[in-house]
Parts: sequence; C-alpha cells; structure tokens
Amino acid sequence: MYDTLWLNANLATMRSGAAPYGAIHDGAIGIAGGKIAWVGARAELPGEAEKLAQEVCDAERAWITPGLVDCHTHLVYAGNRANEFEMRLGGATYEDIARAGGGIVSTVRKTRDASDIELATTAAARLKRLMDEGVTTIEIKSGYGLDMDTELRMLRVARMLGSTAPVTVKTTFLGAHALPEEYKGRPDAYIDFVADEVLPAAAQAGLADAVDAFCEVIGFTPAQTIRVFDAAGAHGLPVKLHADQRSDFGGAALAARYKALSADHLEFAGEPGIAAMGKAGTVGVLLPGAFYFLREKQLPPVDAMRRHGVPIALATDSNPGSSPLLSILLAMNLACTLFRLTPEEALAGITRNGAKALGMGGTHGTIEAGKAADLAFWQVGSPGELAYAMGANPCVKVVRAGEAS
Ligand code: NIG
Ligand code: FE
Repeated sequence: MYDTLWLNANLATMRSGAAPYGAIHDGAIGIAGGKIAWVGARAELPGEAEKLAQEVCDAERAWITPGLVDCHTHLVYAGNRANEFEMRLGGATYEDIARAGGGIVSTVRKTRDASDIELATTAAARLKRLMDEGVTTIEIKSGYGLDMDTELRMLRVARMLGSTAPVTVKTTFLGAHALPEEYKGRPDAYIDFVADEVLPAAAQAGLADAVDAFCEVIGFTPAQTIRVFDAAGAHGLPVKLHADQRSDFGGAALAARYKALSADHLEFAGEPGIAAMGKAGTVGVLLPGAFYFLREKQLPPVDAMRRHGVPIALATDSNPGSSPLLSILLAMNLACTLFRLTPEEALAGITRNGAKALGMGGTHGTIEAGKAADLAFWQVGSPGELAYAMGANPCVKVVRAGEAS
C-alpha cells in the first residue's frame, strides 16, 4: 500500500542508460514512507489505483523530474559586491580587485559583522528562490568567515536552513577560501590554523559534510590544498575542490588523486587532469553563472569530460562576487548556450550527477524505486523546455520526502 499515488503525468526519471531523459509517458509514481515505492507506466500498475494507495493524486499532465540538486553554492553571506561588478565593467579584473583588498575578503568583513539572524534571514530568502524552481537538495559552503567563530556560525546557519525548510542541506567547510587580512603574508600559518583548529572543530561539532578549498593563484597552492585535504581525511570527511577556474594549476588531477567527490569550475583543466577524474569517479561540476558573470573566454573541456566518462554536474555557484545567480533553470540555459551541453545533459547535471557530486547518488537524483521521493512538477510540453525558457519558472509543485509543499 502506498501513501500516495501520482497519476496523469509524464516522467523524466533521469535514469541513465534508459530512453532520452529516462522518459515514461503516462507514468505513475507510488510513494511510501517518503520514498519512491513504485514507478512505471500507468498501464503497468500492479492493481487498481484506488486499492493501491491511501491517496490518489492528479498531476494534471505535468512533467515530473527528480527534485533538483544545486551542488555548489555559497548561499550564506552578508552584503553584496555590486560595486565590484561596476569596477570590472570598467576594466578591472577579478584578480586586480582581490589583490586590492576587495573580492572575497570584503564579503568576509561584512559576514563577520553580521548577526546569525541576519545571515539566516538573507540566506533563507535566497534559498526560497531556488526552492521555488524545484530545488530539493542544496550544498552550502562556509568560507566567508575565515576565523573560528564565523566559519562555525556559517555552517550552523546552513544546517538550520535545512531543518526549517523542506530541503536537504549538505554543508561544506571552505576555510581555505581566501587569506584573511590578519594572516597577510603568512598563508602557511593560516593553512595550519584551518587544518589543525577550525576543520577539526567543524568536524567534531558535526557541522561539515565535506571539505573544499580554492586552489588558485589568488587562492591556495596545491601543497596548501594537500594540507587541508589530509586534515579532512583524518576526520573522515570527503573532499571537493575549486579547481582550474582561472589558470591550469593542476587542480583537477589533485582532486582525482584524493578521490574527491567533485572538482568544480575546470575552465583551464587539461586533458590529463580530466582523464584522472574519469578514473577516480570524480564528478566535474560546471558553473556557467561564474563564467558568464566574470566574462570568461576559456571554455571548460566538456568534450574531454564526455570522452573520459566524467559525470557532468551543474550548479549556480550562488555567491556575491563571481555568480550572484539565484536561478538553477538559468544555469541550465547558460550551460547549453555557453558550454554547448545538451538540454538532457544539463538536466542530468542538476539531478543525477548533482546528487553524485554530493555523494548522494545512491539515494537521490533519479526517479527510481527505493530513492527519496523528491520530485519537481513542471507545466511544460517536454523536459527540454526547462533549459530553453529564459527567466520563466514553469514549476507548479514540489514534493520532498513524499510531502507536497
Ligand atoms: O566559486 N572562486 C572562489 N569562490 C567563489 C567566488 C567567491 C567570491 O568571489 O566571493 C567561486 O567563484
Ligand atoms: Fe564557488
């Protein structure tokens, strides 16, 4: 007996190896205990609908996809950086601004000064925008605190968002995001502080599900990244990496060496790094919002990712500096127009492969029996329309853990 049985829908199950989009026309989904108990063509239901479920629901001919997964965000922060946007349009580069004391550390100043309530309220408003577009799972990073207190506060706020809204939040500790002003000229001392003090505190408090670092000329070196990754391993936490966004710094290969869940950005990653990711099973996360907003020219190596079997995920990278993007559907459109992903690859990027990038591939990201009943309902004629329409939101209903909201 199912708690709920959804009828009168087309399903984009996003099961791999099946029909395009894993599509099932005139499908049915039975839900029990917050999980998918049965999925298939309505004609193959194992009995009469009314006898199978406590409640039979009409999806009104919607397309149903897995609940969307935004696997890379910096959603908790204070202030904004509209002034830097203007400076860049006037010719300054992201690096110029960072070296002049702007960039990430300017958001750090504002975030340190903000109260928990302020951080929670502004992040909740941003989260709502994403959830209205069908997001049921989101990753949120720290990295705008860069001191013990504020890093832990950011993670606590992220956890709190997941316990007060119908969304699954995965937290990532990103202490190695930038060098805070008080450590100027002493990056190794800062990395010691991150690896030996803040990361262990976050891990012991159960506040971090993974550990990330910004491995870049204006961020941290591969050797410093390794220090952080080793500390993560010592605390049993998986790693991921901001890799090869602005230069080929060997980030993709480093992520693969540490069996990272994902390596993200990747515009400058070379083929050997991508091949290593393919072997390690590391997901490649593309962030077209940052590419667009920073007016990048170097395209990520999408063909190499396809050739080496690297699962391609897609995310908003929502943050105040490089990607103030609050639409995962627009991220899909940008990935298709700028990176030439197919609409099906783009949808896989925010469902099946997004879940994989968070280590949740076994329980989320496709509509399959046994997985979480996280579903998004769309008033569209075909799933390809999700990547096509710019600025539209055809999401008509979201079900999370079996419950409609
Ligand atoms: O993913 N590159 C590092 N982190 C962010 C940018 C953060 C910021 O500029 O505030 C990113 O692009
Ligand atoms: Fe990022």
